[in-house]
Amino acid sequence: MNARSALLILLGLVIGALGTVFAMKALGSRNPMPHAVMTVMGHHMGALSQAVKARQCDAAQVNDHLLRLQSTSADIAEAFPGAEQDFVNHAGRLRTALQGAVQAHPLDCAALATAIKPVDDACQSCHQQYR
Ligand code: HEC
Repeated sequence: MNARSALLILLGLVIGALGTVFAMKALGSRNPMPHAVMTVMGHHMGALSQAVKARQCDAAQVNDHLLRLQSTSADIAEAFPGAEQDFVNHAGRLRTALQGAVQAHPLDCAALATAIKPVDDACQSCHQQYR
């Protein structure tokens, strides 16, 4: 095989790979749920950690963010249809952590930081494996 045909084969492979990536992106964008669920949770987690950083932890607002996180987390399994059992277990761990955080009903930043630590851990342990 000469260099020219080797180059053409390589070019074909690269174009094929690019095509696959585009196809996967197109498929992904057809189901906006995973992105939507995660973005909403990201928003509320961001607001909570921002509150801790700014040392302004209004108990009512905190409670609101926690409740929204909790209800959104209930959509994870549905947003990722066909996910393996281990993934579903990770989602379950997040819900347990959120239930604990809601029940802790943090009234100040120190309590909030303690309450969201297990939640943050649950987000990260799933991301490490599946994101
Ligand atoms: C059960 C697994 C799991 C848990 C738990 C989980 N995530 Fe995710 N997250 C994912 C996966 C998978 C992706 C990549 C999704 C994609 O690319 O469509 C992701 C992506 C994200 C993204 C990027 C979204 C985007 O598409 O740009 C954010 C933000 C995010 N997660 C926030 C969170 C927060 C905050 C928590 C915890 C409150 C959390 N996630 C818990 C699995 C999880």
